[in-house]
Amino acid sequence: MDGNKTRAVAPLHDLENPAEFIARHIGPSQDEIDAMLAQLGHASLEDLAQAIVPESIRLAAPLALPPPVSEAQALQDIAALAQANRVLRSLIGMGYYGTIMPAVIARNVFENPAWYTAYTPYQAEISQGRLEAVLNFQTMIGDLTAMPIANASLLDEGTAAAEAMMLARRAARSQSNRFLVSRDCHPQTISVVRTRAEPLGIEVVVGDEANAVGDYFGVLLQYPASTGEVYDHAATVRNVHRTGALVAVASDLLALTVLEPPGRWGADIVIGSAQRFGVPMGFGGPHAGFLACRAEFKRSVPGRLVGVSVDAQGDPALRLALQTREQHIRREKATSNICTAQVLLAVIAAMYAIYHGADGLRRIAMRVHRLAVILAAGLRTAGLRVNESFFDTLRIDGVDAARVHAAARARGYNLRDLGPRTIGISLDETSSRDDVQALWSVLGVEADLDALERSQPDALPPELRRGPDYLLHPVFHRHRSETAMLRYLRELADRDLALDRTMIPLGSCTMKLNAASEMIPVSWPQFAALHPYAPADQSAGYRALIESLEGMLAECTGYDRVSVQPNSGAQGEFAGLLAIRAFHRDRGQAQRTVCLIPESAHGTNPASASLAGMQVVVVACDAQGNIDVADLAAKAQLHAERLAALMVTYPSTNGVFEESIREICDIVHRCGGQVYTDGANLNALIGLAKPAEFGSDVSHLNLHKTFCIPHGGGGPGVGPVAVKSHLAPYLPGHLGEAKSVGMISAANYGSASILPISWMYLTMMGGTGITRATQVALLNANYLTRKLAPHYPVLYSGRNGYVAHECILDLRPIKEQCGISAEDVAKRLMDYGFHAPTLSFPVPGTLMIEPTESESQGELDRFVDAMVRIRAEIRAVETGAADREDNPLRNAPHTAAMVSADSWEHAYSRELAAFPTPALRRRKYWPPVARVDNVYGDRNLVCACPPTADWVDSPVPSA
Ligand SMILES: Cc1ncc(COP(=O)(O)O)c(C=O)c1O
Repeated sequence: MDGNKTRAVAPLHDLENPAEFIARHIGPSQDEIDAMLAQLGHASLEDLAQAIVPESIRLAAPLALPPPVSEAQALQDIAALAQANRVLRSLIGMGYYGTIMPAVIARNVFENPAWYTAYTPYQAEISQGRLEAVLNFQTMIGDLTAMPIANASLLDEGTAAAEAMMLARRAARSQSNRFLVSRDCHPQTISVVRTRAEPLGIEVVVGDEANAVGDYFGVLLQYPASTGEVYDHAATVRNVHRTGALVAVASDLLALTVLEPPGRWGADIVIGSAQRFGVPMGFGGPHAGFLACRAEFKRSVPGRLVGVSVDAQGDPALRLALQTREQHIRREKATSNICTAQVLLAVIAAMYAIYHGADGLRRIAMRVHRLAVILAAGLRTAGLRVNESFFDTLRIDGVDAARVHAAARARGYNLRDLGPRTIGISLDETSSRDDVQALWSVLGVEADLDALERSQPDALPPELRRGPDYLLHPVFHRHRSETAMLRYLRELADRDLALDRTMIPLGSCTMKLNAASEMIPVSWPQFAALHPYAPADQSAGYRALIESLEGMLAECTGYDRVSVQPNSGAQGEFAGLLAIRAFHRDRGQAQRTVCLIPESAHGTNPASASLAGMQVVVVACDAQGNIDVADLAAKAQLHAERLAALMVTYPSTNGVFEESIREICDIVHRCGGQVYTDGANLNALIGLAKPAEFGSDVSHLNLHKTFCIPHGGGGPGVGPVAVKSHLAPYLPGHLGEAKSVGMISAANYGSASILPISWMYLTMMGGTGITRATQVALLNANYLTRKLAPHYPVLYSGRNGYVAHECILDLRPIKEQCGISAEDVAKRLMDYGFHAPTLSFPVPGTLMIEPTESESQGELDRFVDAMVRIRAEIRAVETGAADREDNPLRNAPHTAAMVSADSWEHAYSRELAAFPTPALRRRKYWPPVARVDNVYGDRNLVCACPPTADWVDSPVPSA
């Protein structure tokens, strides 16, 4: 043997394969990419991207992000960041408490893609599981607050308080513009309320609720108070009502299991956070905020509402109710800009209540209370001053606070800092006898726990004690064994179509892969168990992660600074517009309040502009769906003195790269305005162009689109706001900071605990991977468009006839000709096992399709096949071969009950109804309800669990 023969040795770097994740995230294989490129007539992804993206904005250099790393390496790296956080037991309170997520919920909801990869339930028929879960949430909130209407979640307690203020302003008889916020409210709530009030000209007075009677349109109370006292507010409420003002109450769900609910003592609106029902503190979020109110405000409620209706068979079915309140219809006149909310967290909170039931919740509440009673009694024996009435929170006066905090930290506890002589302690579900003993020793107290336990009465005011008069619906009794709970969760998940079963081609929503390794760190206690207001030295890991993420996002977009505080895209819009407003004001140009918005814009744009105190002026779009530059120039000129901003989505909401974007930015700048780019469509841009480089001043990004945070069935999301340096001083402030723009969300870093998802994505993809992802997103969209164009008219296209990362199919000519609508196609797709594309946005009567880079060619072809078959079904109607009304499209979706009923009176076969392609025989999703009647549900509004007898026995008659 020739020992010198050279072996072909693979370089170790290749074997280590650090770029491994890129091919896991990107759906099509290299062969599929080549095949699709060939069909489009391009030699490479770069070549295709050049043909699509206007030359004037194309990046000259690749993204300066670190190279990709493997999943295992990224997990190791993020574990090191997690280790840099120090998790103490935080007894700080302020609306954030230790809690235990039942393991069955952790495993089957929190960590289950069937729940977390679902989309907002706009398509009700394939969303019955999560709609039921949210209906349970609404029922739970309604019961605990004793209010008839509760919404499907808000972003956090602070923003819920701000929404309550605005609701009070709309609904109160009083014409005042002043809102009294009790000084007993959590400080971050006060801060968020101030931020939201100022641009609307609302004067916030923070004061004593004893002075609540005065020139106010509303009052916000906190019950129990932020520092623990439980006051009887009934007389205050009566007096406030006499002045024509309304009362909103920030409350605590666990306290409400044992305390008289605000609805019984006259509150008009009740808000709060459902965090302590099983959702980790997560350094501030995400958690479900809630808002409940009197029935007469139902058309004014912010956020989504799940309601009961009927389907085409007359059977009960759930769907989103009263949608005409929302911004996609009412635009700048909307009651709120909230779009993405906190559905996944609302589901977890509702399941926590179902798991424990009323008696279990009371037991937890009373355990927490009794431990607090014993703790307080021990402190009093040592001469310390403690509040008389409380649920779980003690305010302890007359201590050397610095010494106590230091001693507490040495024992592993964070206490609330209430000044040099005062501390606060909030016990929670995780508290134990040992904690009481440890806290006594921190405070130099020696006491006999057992003796105090026997001798001490409760500290709940007797007149405010509540009986077990809530959660009486059977759903809160039936699922108490783990087996029953497991099966209930599975049953609900099985009713829904999420990304774990099929592509979800929702335009503007970017339903891409949410990889398991991105999700894993979210559950780690080093990220999950931190209190948002724990001392800063305990969150070094978080802050390093956030800094690194903000840096990577800045590199991707070209901006100079990023704040991750906004906890949704709409919040990011609001934050960006406030930055623009503050910038103009600082330059003595407070009159700049006009915001130009193209008619195709997403509804949150005009809604956010009006919340930021701006007047919306609509700019026309041309026949190609681009901004009509002449109209823009004319309007910018007309309002030049008062022009604050243009809000533009890029690529446009119509899914095209507008060639004139630089010119558009120049026009706005010449007239003294700032350019806001809605970053919801960044999935078409990252690595190819940067908004800040083509002239934009500020953007929000949807981390729950481009950067892989799952949609959770309607939230959580993160909407970082990214700015050029001149706007950096106006980014959202942190608690206690004196800045011209205050807090946007209740926590300094918003929904911090899901930021690891985007960090993992960027770290594993690196600059090359993320650029390739964008290129494949363009490829997939254009491949689909090319395949579908012979069958359906494609509404808009840009350069060289290409779309960006999504395309709009125009169903209006078809509807005109044969009556089959975009909605019929959307519903028929369910029979084929697909989630419908975006329906009627941004153009009524159309379907907007966004496949993302994560779908393989095989999955795209499966979708094309379904759409082509559906076109043939339409053609049968067009030619008269099928009846105009009795056809598989108009009757879609078809349930198992419909096709297996004894009688079948349709003009087409059962087989065509249920198995329109042979493959469906092996892989069939059965929509659990037939087409839902939206109008019936809005006319007969029911937004809580209906009595089971109605549900099971008596089909509701059609309207
Ligand atoms: C174009 C566009 N802008 C803004 C938003 C608002 O984002 P969020 O739902 O996170 O508030 C969306 C959400 O779908 C969107 O599609």
